[in-house]
Amino acid sequence: MLPLNILACFWLLCIGGFCSMFIIQQFPKIPSVLWNLISYGKARNLREEKTRKRSSLDKLLDLPKQWFTHFYAVSVICNGFLLFKLFEVLFFHGHMPNWYMDLLRFLTNFPLQTPKASHLSIVIAIALLLFQGIRRLYECLFVSSYSSSTMHVAHYILGILFYALAGMSVLSEGPDFRKPAPFDNAWQVVQQVEWFNVAGIIVFFWATYHHHVAHKIFAGLRKGDRDRSHRIPRGDWFELVSCPHYLAEILIYVALVMVLGFAHPMSYLVLGFTASNQVFASISVHAWYQKTFDNYPKGRRAIIPWLI
Ligand SMILES: NC(=O)c1ccc[n+]([C@@H]2O[C@H](COP(=O)([O-])OP(=O)(O)OC[C@H]3O[C@@H](n4cnc5c(N)ncnc54)[C@H](OP(=O)(O)O)[C@@H]3O)[C@@H](O)[C@H]2O)c1
Repeated sequence: MLPLNILACFWLLCIGGFCSMFIIQQFPKIPSVLWNLISYGKARNLREEKTRKRSSLDKLLDLPKQWFTHFYAVSVICNGFLLFKLFEVLFFHGHMPNWYMDLLRFLTNFPLQTPKASHLSIVIAIALLLFQGIRRLYECLFVSSYSSSTMHVAHYILGILFYALAGMSVLSEGPDFRKPAPFDNAWQVVQQVEWFNVAGIIVFFWATYHHHVAHKIFAGLRKGDRDRSHRIPRGDWFELVSCPHYLAEILIYVALVMVLGFAHPMSYLVLGFTASNQVFASISVHAWYQKTFDNYPKGRRAIIPWLI
């Protein structure tokens, strides 16, 4: 059953928004202000000739897409803080700060009478989110090569909120971390391990590997620092879909649902946010590739091999 609280409503509103963008996108004539709001990156040029009369307001609301780096900095700070505090609670008789618990109670149904995930599942999920943040931060700073492509300020705000709130959503349906943890040593925590924790970790690292490979392939397409062109990516999952990095991103959040034992409703909403926006974005990107390159591989799909 879907949880009813402020944070859940936020996720549902975003999912609804992404799905309606998908419908709006089907209309051949969209006002440029709306197109700028729903598109970003190279796919923004998809309708350039027809609809693009960029007003000074449009330009004012544009931010460099390179600022994706800020999202991962937020993720590292928020999830790093959570993991540190969880370790204090579990192993050193520490406690979560009152202001954080008050915020959690205000935004979510925390504390639940019956938690939806164990202490260990919550710790693993936050650790994986932190790992994802660190890896993406590393890629943004040291692997990816950006052009002058842009995103709407609304995308930027949503991105910051997503990475700040994902960890909080995970915590909100876990055990009550205000109470002392019922463990005397690390071995007792590890004994909570379940098959779905292991399966989720395996899926997470499998998807992470392919996500990283996709970003390396993109970076390899640019010849030198001044090359800002877009080319046809090839290799690994690119042989099947135009956006393997979006597919891998969805799988990473599927892994989160798995690690939390499939019974953590807020994790499904976080997955829903990711899946809806990544599927929507992949369809625009796929259309852009097909329109831009006459020799674009015919069998390649947008995001789900052989299907979408
Ligand atoms: N969890 C979520 O809800 C969520 C939402 C959005 C994004 N993300 C993740 O964030 C990551 C970045 O997303 P994104 O939309 O920025 O990806 P993207 O548009 O594909 O860009 C990734 C990098 O590859 C470059 N690139 C893309 N296509 C290229 C091509 N054909 N030739 C040469 N270089 C190319 C881009 O340069 P340019 O900037 O110059 O195009 C950029 O440096 C993705 O892995 C995605 O999964 C997650």
